Amino acid sequence: MVPLLEMQGIVKKFGSVKALDGVSIKLNRGEILSLCGENGSGKSTLMKVLCGIYPYGDYEGDIAFKGNEVRAKGIADTEALGIAIIHQELTLVKELSVLENLFLGSEIESFGMLDFDRMHAESIKLLEKVQLNICPETIVGDLGVGQQQLIEIAKALSKNAELLVLDEPTAPLTESETEILLNLVKDLRAQGVSCIFISHKLAEVKEISDHICVIRDGMHIGTRSAETMTTDDIITMMVGREMKQLFPREEHAIGDVILEAKNICAWDKTNAHIPKVRNANFSLRKGEILGVSGLVGAGRTELMECLYGCYQGKHSGEVYLSGKPLELRSSHDALEAGIAMVPEDRKRHGIVPILSVGENITLAGLDAFAPVGVLNDVHEASEIEKSIKSLTVKTPNAELAIRNLSGGNQQKAILARFLMINPQILILDEPTRGIDVGAKYEIYKLIFQLVKQGISVIMVSSELPEVLGISDRVLVMHEGVIKGDLINDQLTQEQIMDCALTEKVVAEV
Ligand SMILES: Nc1ncnc2c1ncn2[C@@H]1O[C@H](COP(=O)(O)OP(=O)(O)OP(=O)(O)O)[C@@H](O)[C@H]1O
Ligand SMILES: [Mg+2]
Repeated sequence: MVPLLEMQGIVKKFGSVKALDGVSIKLNRGEILSLCGENGSGKSTLMKVLCGIYPYGDYEGDIAFKGNEVRAKGIADTEALGIAIIHQELTLVKELSVLENLFLGSEIESFGMLDFDRMHAESIKLLEKVQLNICPETIVGDLGVGQQQLIEIAKALSKNAELLVLDEPTAPLTESETEILLNLVKDLRAQGVSCIFISHKLAEVKEISDHICVIRDGMHIGTRSAETMTTDDIITMMVGREMKQLFPREEHAIGDVILEAKNICAWDKTNAHIPKVRNANFSLRKGEILGVSGLVGAGRTELMECLYGCYQGKHSGEVYLSGKPLELRSSHDALEAGIAMVPEDRKRHGIVPILSVGENITLAGLDAFAPVGVLNDVHEASEIEKSIKSLTVKTPNAELAIRNLSGGNQQKAILARFLMINPQILILDEPTRGIDVGAKYEIYKLIFQLVKQGISVIMVSSELPEVLGISDRVLVMHEGVIKGDLINDQLTQEQIMDCALTEKVVAEV
């Protein structure tokens, strides 16, 4: 049988950097192949070669689709063949409606006019295919990321894709959204649509794949059938050594209460009568790691934004630092008081794409924390060098524009930025999203280093193993209410989920 896709010996260079060094993959019809590898190992690059974003001549090696050689000049060529890619960063136009996005560039016309009736009817069919029960006239920007992701898939299906490439589709999704997406991909497989799936969440990779291919440093390490691999096997192949322990817990002293939040309330940014945070009270001790758990939409980000002075909607309540009330009118006030926050949405609040990696790292340090005197260039360069090293940001040099880094490495650079401020309190909102296991480990180690120096860390995370793996104490939020304040002593995932979902309020502390 001729495979649906065969890529042979693909080599792709960026200047002197070899991002891909002879990678070969093969995929049959109706099969799901996952690509695993650390940040910067070359997964997205391989997919961009496949889809013609890097056209024929820009890489070495051969590509065959249904047995025919592919020499694409651009993405339009591969789309015409039936290959659709959904990128790591979504590309829908937020200001336009679902319908307009679905038919952007392929509008249906009759008698020289746009045929809205037909596009409406087609949209409904497409939305049904991805099980989205929304009106095609909805503005895309009003939808959650999970729904937007499904619309991207609907758009790919409208072009009769036979091969769907999903580059980290589940990174920003909630658990239930992820479930919907994974089921959809499985349904599509049953209908003969093949899929190449990229994710750092190895449990879902294992669940969904027929085959798993591991890439390390641009090289093909191996492809095996998913049944024969455990997640530990995948990790070992990815990092090139066995990782005995995923959470490097270290002893650290916990001091007195340093931060207190009292009666924090916040209302929806656009709909000021919908409460998002209801009367939240909690405290944070010096040198403590406080995990904040709960389903997405539970009000965790809103609560953190109130502490960081950047919540855009109506809010109230008091924040005390070392017993003194703070006036937090902006993140500038918070930074000055010693509270820093690494935001959840890297693209919206995080990187400045056209600036270099180094400039992105020193950004907050330069304007907000305004040290006495001016940083001299040599000192600045050596500080940048240090943080690139300690966070293992994979970049050829600090001068490269940050948009060229792989997704996970951009995240590390942002983390580096806020660490430069030397905050007393560091709020991390989903700090390891899109980050590979090895780099996660580095970030956890760093968190422990920070608390050992007496910094207090609040970490919002949707990954329960991570919350349990590193927190000293866990807040559980549900519909804007802090339902649990639990010491993490043999706490289990079930206890946290129970607490997030039941009506009773559990407070141990
Ligand atoms: N346009 C570019 N210019 C220079 N280097 C690049 C460019 N695009 C990618 N690279 C480099 O190629 C390597 C592979 O990057 P790629 O984005 O494929 O990684 P990835 O496996 O998708 O990582 P992640 O899991 O973080 O998304 C990285 O070292 C990256 O810095
Ligand atoms: Mg990538």
